[in-house]
Amino acid sequence: MNEYDSNRIRNALDAEATDNPAEADIIIINTCAIRDKADQKAFSSLGKYKHLKSNNPGLIVGISGCVAQLYGEKLLERMPYLDFVLGPRAIPRLPELIKTIENEKQRTVETSYDIEELFDIEPYHSPGKVTAFVSVQQGCNKRCSYCIVPRVRGDEINRPLGDILRETRNLVDKGVREVTFIGQTVNSWKENGYKFGDLLRAAANVENLERIRFTTSYPRDITSRMIEAVRDVPKVCRHIHLPVQSGSNAVLGKMKRTYTREWYSDIVKRLRDAAPDMAVSTDIIVGYPGETERDFEDTMSLLEEIQFDSAFSFKFSPRPGTTAAACPAEETVDEETSGRRLSLLQTFQRDVTMRKNRARVGQVEEVLAEGPSKNDPGILTGRTSHNRITHFRGAGTLSGRVLRVRITEGLFNSLRGELSV
Ligand code: 5AD
Repeated sequence: MNEYDSNRIRNALDAEATDNPAEADIIIINTCAIRDKADQKAFSSLGKYKHLKSNNPGLIVGISGCVAQLYGEKLLERMPYLDFVLGPRAIPRLPELIKTIENEKQRTVETSYDIEELFDIEPYHSPGKVTAFVSVQQGCNKRCSYCIVPRVRGDEINRPLGDILRETRNLVDKGVREVTFIGQTVNSWKENGYKFGDLLRAAANVENLERIRFTTSYPRDITSRMIEAVRDVPKVCRHIHLPVQSGSNAVLGKMKRTYTREWYSDIVKRLRDAAPDMAVSTDIIVGYPGETERDFEDTMSLLEEIQFDSAFSFKFSPRPGTTAAACPAEETVDEETSGRRLSLLQTFQRDVTMRKNRARVGQVEEVLAEGPSKNDPGILTGRTSHNRITHFRGAGTLSGRVLRVRITEGLFNSLRGELSV
């Protein structure tokens, strides 16, 4: 989502981008507030650009994204060298904002939610890139107790079907072969009686588009209509990212996730019944306030039961204004305990992921070649339908083609293979 927003910012400005901060006229740090660490990163990277102002007094330094939305005005107080603060929903206002700063020499905060042109600015697309994100939804209507997203990105707004298809077609005309639909709870997308499954089917009709991915799905919003679309539409990749967060019903209840462990398992079973080789990845939070050893064991047993292809796991991080951050002090899980739980979980999952990746050895997979790998121009990088990164020897001219690749090695984060005939 942030990568998409950064590219929208780049297009909104209609300016040339540079990798060298010393020659920039405008520097914008686009930020994430999901966990404390991300939020700290924003402040330390801003500090790095402070000194550039003494050499270039005309330099404009701004902060955008969720940290900007969260702290607003306070950021200007805290950082005297900062010129503007721009919330994630206000990106279309950026050109005006820059004009105001240039003409009126006024420091500005723009964090309004109700911007009509919400989806009007489409992201910058690097020439030659064969994959792209397409935003189908902004904001979130869920109220998970730990999550800051609804506060900083506002309520859910769904993008009209026609707009999504138009952006997809434009991308395909530029050489894109795979789109990933993005939204905070992407599968809750609906518009004018159309549901997410209909969006998948409609997108599949876009000519020369080879693949469709989507992220992130919310378990409770998976419907039969969606499962059927995933099953029936060959362009839809065999991967779903489906955050479970915890395997303990007590913790899931406190998190306000609106499903139980059993319900989640059943949904995964239905997905796998419909599309037997479906890869499933997830997100997990350990050390949620009040999480007992027993609760944590429930999470471990869920990982064992489901056998996720991969899992992203995090220590609970209290976020300002969320109900979970206001829990009584005695419920806090200490750092040592959550650190130990995280490491146990990651060790366990590593084995499962390794085993699953190694099981691909000898199989022929369809891989969309995305381009030469950074370290070796003779090696192509791509992804299997299951979202496994795959490296194999091949010419750069094959980029953008779906190729048959025989897998020769399974690593933790990727596969290796060779072109097969
Ligand atoms: N603390 C830790 N992890 C969090 N996530 C969201 N909010 C928090 C928080 N306060 C994790 C969830 C989510 C992923 C994007 O980040 O697992 O799915």
